[in-house]
Amino acid sequence: MITTKNQKEIELMKIAGDITIRAIEEVGKHIRPGISTKELDKIAHDYIVSRGAKPSCLGYQGFPGTICASVDEVVVHGIPSDDIILQEGQIISIDCVASYKGYHGDAARTFAVGNISEEKQKLIKVTEECFWKALEGLKDGSRLGDIGAAVQKNAEKHGFGSVREMGGHGIGRHMHEDPFVPMFGTAGTGMKLKTGMTIAIEPMITAGTWELRLNGWDARTKDGRPSAHYENTVLIKDDGVEILTKKLEANNFEQR
Ligand code: MF3
Ligand code: CO
Repeated sequence: MITTKNQKEIELMKIAGDITIRAIEEVGKHIRPGISTKELDKIAHDYIVSRGAKPSCLGYQGFPGTICASVDEVVVHGIPSDDIILQEGQIISIDCVASYKGYHGDAARTFAVGNISEEKQKLIKVTEECFWKALEGLKDGSRLGDIGAAVQKNAEKHGFGSVREMGGHGIGRHMHEDPFVPMFGTAGTGMKLKTGMTIAIEPMITAGTWELRLNGWDARTKDGRPSAHYENTVLIKDDGVEILTKKLEANNFEQR
């Protein structure tokens, strides 16, 4: 079922979004060679709980972490572990979902571990760019295919792949709601989006093939090449969109 959200619900989602993006920012400050992904997970967990919010991924279908920490060829859903120690030259995608008073915010960013190759730098940049391209012209009446087409086109323009077996999703009272939001497709096709819908748009871009090898939670590229992830929770409006996973003004923040 696809839902639209009222003003009160959107306010709660903005708080959830603020907590989510700040949790990712906290994790980002600690990314360096030698730290384990389990340590990063604890940083996100402690921050979310300190804000009176809940880590949505923890326990979701048995997922054991607060964050998904996905290194290099792992595309998404990397399980935080004491045994995964970051090394110079890797890239790591941090995907985090937090809920506040029952409403979720979902975001992801990819970080460099120390110095990384030019190809990896470009991959991170193009992945973020794919997200912003998806937002161009997006508003009430746009179609799902417009989003997928924009992401796919930008990825392929740079010789990269856009993952097909997974994608974005509706979000709100549940972390995953309808509709499924493909990161590939054809403009002008698919369901029409409506003011008040909230969706997670999340390009997962690969340096080589978009094909994955899936095994339980493990989702990695078939060719072993690296991938990057960039995600925000977005509200559809009459005249455009608003990103809900962004930091609220300090002022605003005190009042909440
Ligand atoms: N942002 C991820 C998604 O959209 C969150 C997955 S959390 C997990 O699917 F619990 F499913 F791992
Ligand atoms: Co998501």
